[in-house]
Amino acid sequence: MTATAQIGVTGLAVMGSNLARNFARHGHTVAVHNRTSAKTKALVDQHGHEGDFVPAETAEEFVAALQKPRRIVIMVKAGDPTDAVIDEFAQLLDEGDMIIDGGNAHFLDTRRREKALRAKGIHFVGTGISGGEEGALNGPSIMPGGSVESYKALGPLLESIAAKAKDGTPCCTHVGPDAAGHFVKMVHNGIEYADMQLIAEAYDLLRAVAGYEPDRIAETFRTWNTGRLDSYLIEITAEVLAHTDESAGRPFVDVVADEAEQKGTGRWTVQTALDLGVPVSGIAEAVFARSVSGHTDLRRAARELPGPKSEPLAPAEARAFAAQVEEALYASKVVSYAQGWNMIGKASEEYGWNIDLGAMAAIWRGGCIIRAAFLDRIRAAFAADPALPTLLADRGFAEEVGRAQDAWRSVVATAVRHGVPTPGFSAALAYYDALRAQRLPAALTQGQRDFFGAHTYRRTDREGSYHTLWSGDRSELRTD
Ligand code: 6PG
Repeated sequence: MTATAQIGVTGLAVMGSNLARNFARHGHTVAVHNRTSAKTKALVDQHGHEGDFVPAETAEEFVAALQKPRRIVIMVKAGDPTDAVIDEFAQLLDEGDMIIDGGNAHFLDTRRREKALRAKGIHFVGTGISGGEEGALNGPSIMPGGSVESYKALGPLLESIAAKAKDGTPCCTHVGPDAAGHFVKMVHNGIEYADMQLIAEAYDLLRAVAGYEPDRIAETFRTWNTGRLDSYLIEITAEVLAHTDESAGRPFVDVVADEAEQKGTGRWTVQTALDLGVPVSGIAEAVFARSVSGHTDLRRAARELPGPKSEPLAPAEARAFAAQVEEALYASKVVSYAQGWNMIGKASEEYGWNIDLGAMAAIWRGGCIIRAAFLDRIRAAFAADPALPTLLADRGFAEEVGRAQDAWRSVVATAVRHGVPTPGFSAALAYYDALRAQRLPAALTQGQRDFFGAHTYRRTDREGSYHTLWSGDRSELRTD
């Protein structure tokens, strides 16, 4: 077989074959391979006319079809299947070749794999790809990690198939070394969870408190989508809410079981945030909310617990309330993104990735699930101050959230009064209030820790670390 392909894709389930088609449609010759060759054949039979595909039956044929340095994109299940495919191909590759893992791998696996392959002279490029099946075909947001050298050979190909932001720039950039790409994809998904939870809470409030029906709520979301909340997730929310289930003749949202599932990237984000010591309460509440929804046993046991007696609002009040919900949703969203960006910043420091925080917002403006007009504001905030400690400190965001805070508080209070759970809105507001507090009750926590465990504390008025002799004369000792 002559080496004619610029890139190869192995693992031809929907994401893999759509990505291969996207490369082919952009004029690249693409070698395609799958464990079972029926999928390879089906891809070429159905879509061969879209571009230049080189079908390969065996791993050896596949590798032989690739120009050097070889670029192999693997699109297989995260975990053991990924390791198996890497092992299979690594032995067929030469120094300087690249294996690009486009799945949702855990970043620690990516670090391990990158290190092992680097020792063999092979570049391992853990790459986040967002946008689902449609994005893979028509332009995803792409987050490659790995070496700078690999990006030189790979970047132009990836950029050619990536979504383009409104200003025309590709939604793809070199995120940073080793696992930086998979790490930011994980946080992207965490933010996606938080965004979805906040939207769900807004829906719940409009339904239970404002008394709106799903089609009216769809209309409300459509209107919001023309303003600062303009985003893919708000757009599809309106579509889902406006959909009527044909067989039941009822709103689709009323016939779907109310138990949200998850594949795990949101959970990974929270687990990792705990290890890094970064508070991502908005993402955590979103993960827990999905988990609560799935605990049908607990919900069944608690169904008869008393709640407040409350009636939906009168129409004029409902309209005003809906406007307040928009403010609460926006402010809570800013908090979630602020937390997500803090997490990326902390990991970047911890692992020495040197991630350009503004560039992450830039490549999420198009293609990915959280794409939104709003991301250009985040890009601009970091462009104005690359050392911005939190998005909430950006003047523009601070002013907007400050203006929204009365409505935000009122929505959370109303939710509590009506017994509607809003963990996302409430946690975001608590985080906002915690950051702006002049004094936090953490001083008392320190006192308690010192009392029962002699864990020591620092003082506001002098340097050093101290312990009070709580069971003695309560005199204070300097301990450092
Ligand atoms: C994307 C999505 C994608 C996916 C996740 C979410 O960026 O294209 O985030 O990765 O849909 O797997 O899945 P769960 O909600 O099942 O965790």
